[in-house]
Amino acid sequence: MIKRPDGTADLLPEQLAGWNRVERIVREVFGRYGYLEVRPPIFENTNLFTKSTGDTTDIVEKEMFTVPPRGETSDSYTFRPELTPGAIRSLIEAKAFAEKSFWKVFYWGAAFRYERPQKGRCRQFTQFGVEALGSEDPLIDVETIAVFADILKACGVARFDVRVNSLGCPACRGAFREKLKGILAPQIGTYCENCRKRIDRNVFRVVDCKVDAAKTASLPAITDNLCEACKDHFARVQRGLKEAGVAFVVDPKIVRGLDYYMRTVYEFSSPDLGSQSALGGGGRYDGLVESMGGPKIGGVGFASGVERVLIALEAANVTAPPAARLDFYAVAASPEARAPLFAIVQTLRAKGFAGDLDFEGRSMKAQFRSANKSGARFAVILGGDELAKSVVKLKNMADGGEQAVSIEEAAGMLAKGRTA
Ligand code: HAM
Repeated sequence: MIKRPDGTADLLPEQLAGWNRVERIVREVFGRYGYLEVRPPIFENTNLFTKSTGDTTDIVEKEMFTVPPRGETSDSYTFRPELTPGAIRSLIEAKAFAEKSFWKVFYWGAAFRYERPQKGRCRQFTQFGVEALGSEDPLIDVETIAVFADILKACGVARFDVRVNSLGCPACRGAFREKLKGILAPQIGTYCENCRKRIDRNVFRVVDCKVDAAKTASLPAITDNLCEACKDHFARVQRGLKEAGVAFVVDPKIVRGLDYYMRTVYEFSSPDLGSQSALGGGGRYDGLVESMGGPKIGGVGFASGVERVLIALEAANVTAPPAARLDFYAVAASPEARAPLFAIVQTLRAKGFAGDLDFEGRSMKAQFRSANKSGARFAVILGGDELAKSVVKLKNMADGGEQAVSIEEAAGMLAKGRTA
């Protein structure tokens, strides 16, 4: 047989109970904060990602699922490795900023990165996240962190850390970049191959290097090299977090793997995740919207990987409630009763009751076995006698009691059964 591709997952009913629970909570919490949903397409013009995610990132350099130009179009398309660029593009394209200057949007959807699969690292994964567009207020940075923390708590993620940092603005970051390069240049020969490549293209990623972590520990911290405006912004983010009761630590090592960030960046991690410890991350990206053809406005957001949230929930022994029980399972006492029984099932479903029946022409005994397995409260039985009298036999699966009733009466008893 042909198996599913590496780095993808099949979600069957058992797993989906957990997934749907998380999705329900995510939507509920985002709703409580006033974020509105957007749903951009799953693939976009490749240029959208090379220009916004950034062409020095691992994502763009190595991990994109790209479909080369073909047929009538000269465009190359890429399955989105993240949802931020598409979400912003969709608002710019809809001229949404002409209608109002500040937008808070959220999304939930698949993303694709050609990474080496391992626990918590997939080639197709699902992200939820927010983008708050149109404000440079540090309090909105705080809100995006708070909403993510609230979601994790509401889901039941027992252990997570919030680490925040500031990357400064183009002005102070430019000066710091040169300072870092000056320090690193004489010793870069002793660093790993990636760092040697990154020193010119994106020196901040050297700070982020796992291989050379011991060497980079003594490098100066960006937080000690911020301009006054960035220092003030970062101080206000920290004060806001404290006042809102969100626990966090400042970690100058957080640089994030995407090009568009400036000022606030943050990561949420969990000790329950193993080597892929990031539950999610985000930050501020003033300038990105304008560079994509939109107005000159600030923006901040985060995204989280649902697969990783579910790993953390498993570690915390959080289980999803079982699927809702059926109200009834319908049992045909003879082959002739099957079609009229189906009509009765439809009548009861139309009244809002959940019910099912056999489609394999099985014996009554086997049908009752299915009724038991389904967890239904009642069996609705139809045979020749009932057909002749226009009634059904309603059997209470818990106590075995049976009575002949009209469809209307059956509906009344099914409704009562729900509250019993
Ligand atoms: P990111 O850090 O690249 O940021 O991804 C966010 C989260 O997505 C990660 O922390 C992780 O939980 C999950 N994730 C990423 N790659 C994988 C993978 N291969 N398998 C499983 N999960 C994965 C962004 O994507 C930014 N768009 C976040 C953002 C929004 N920044 C501002 N707004």
